[in-house]
Amino acid sequence: MRILVIGASGHIGSVVASTFESHGHEVLAASRSGEHTVDITDPASVRALFNGIGELDAVVVAAGSVPFAPLTELTRDDYVTAFTSKALAQIDIARTALEHVRDGGSITLTSGVLAREPIATGAAAAVANGAIESFVVTAAAEAPRGIRINAVSPNVLESSADLHALFAGQRPVPDVEIGRAYALAVEGLVRGRVITA
Ligand SMILES: NC(=O)c1ccc[n+]([C@@H]2O[C@H](COP(=O)([O-])OP(=O)(O)OC[C@H]3O[C@@H](n4cnc5c(N)ncnc54)[C@H](OP(=O)(O)O)[C@@H]3O)[C@@H](O)[C@H]2O)c1
Repeated sequence: MRILVIGASGHIGSVVASTFESHGHEVLAASRSGEHTVDITDPASVRALFNGIGELDAVVVAAGSVPFAPLTELTRDDYVTAFTSKALAQIDIARTALEHVRDGGSITLTSGVLAREPIATGAAAAVANGAIESFVVTAAAEAPRGIRINAVSPNVLESSADLHALFAGQRPVPDVEIGRAYALAVEGLVRGRVITA
């Protein structure tokens, strides 16, 4: 398969890229500073990436940032930032990818455990993750040409040790489980799923 991984240099994206390379797929790495450059917060940049990259079997998005702050300090602007920088950015990619993914291909977004488990300072992140998870359920049901749409919703990664103190009591997820979740979304047959890892 020819797979575009947006955010391929990050914690999750690098696991995704190496998993699919080890499975014999061609991985196209994209980020603001990657082999293929894109700023996911700029719809024109997203369109330019897809217009220049040719037909794809699959698109994976493992990028999207959110502000973290105590509930009483999160501002309206913080919620707008979380929604636009993570949820809307990934939704824009999915909308654009629908025109560039082959019949029966797939689009996989990335949400996160904060859609279902609380941590202090995580309310804006929870909103963004929940929006992504709601989107894939309905978008998958309507997607044309047999294209499958899913989200992977990871717990905190073992490799993101700087975040572990925030996720007290959660079980950090090893890279092999991250790879398995994205393989299910891309190489499997599921659609409209929120795949937890
Ligand atoms: N790490 C975790 O434990 C964890 C757990 C659950 C969910 N998540 C979610 O998974 C996603 C990825 O997390 P991560 O920890 O892998 O992040 P990360 O290590 O910070 O990597 C982010 C990746 O996205 C790229 N990127 C950042 N902003 C971008 C932009 N505006 N346009 C294009 N590319 C951009 C970065 O490369 P450049 O800087 O070169 O652009 C990098 O490749 C995030 O949405 C995060 O909330 C993470």
